[in-house]
Amino acid sequence: MRPIGSVHEIPPGEGRTFAVDGQMIAVFRLRDGSLRATQAVCPHKGGPLADGQIDLKQVLCPLHLNAWDLTTGCSLSGQPDLAVYPVHLDHDTILLGDPT
Ligand code: FES
Repeated sequence: MRPIGSVHEIPPGEGRTFAVDGQMIAVFRLRDGSLRATQAVCPHKGGPLADGQIDLKQVLCPLHLNAWDLTTGCSLSGQPDLAVYPVHLDHDTILLGDPT
């Protein structure tokens, strides 16, 4: 796993986009304090998933409101699934693994 930034860059209940090895990764900080990481570019028409609304289970793309499960990446609205990444916290540092 590699460090990609500080958890303090992400307000609770929101997501932020990180550039990692030329890939755009959306990291979400859930309101329970846990993190999720997915590809940042929406597979529907390229919307910025990190700007989408999240709850403890899903993200809604801000452009057309398609929904994905934040843990599995599975589409909940008939779109292609998202790549998801293992993500952990080491104190305040976000550690990202390879996609599952
Ligand atoms: S671009 Fe994301 S739902 Fe359309």
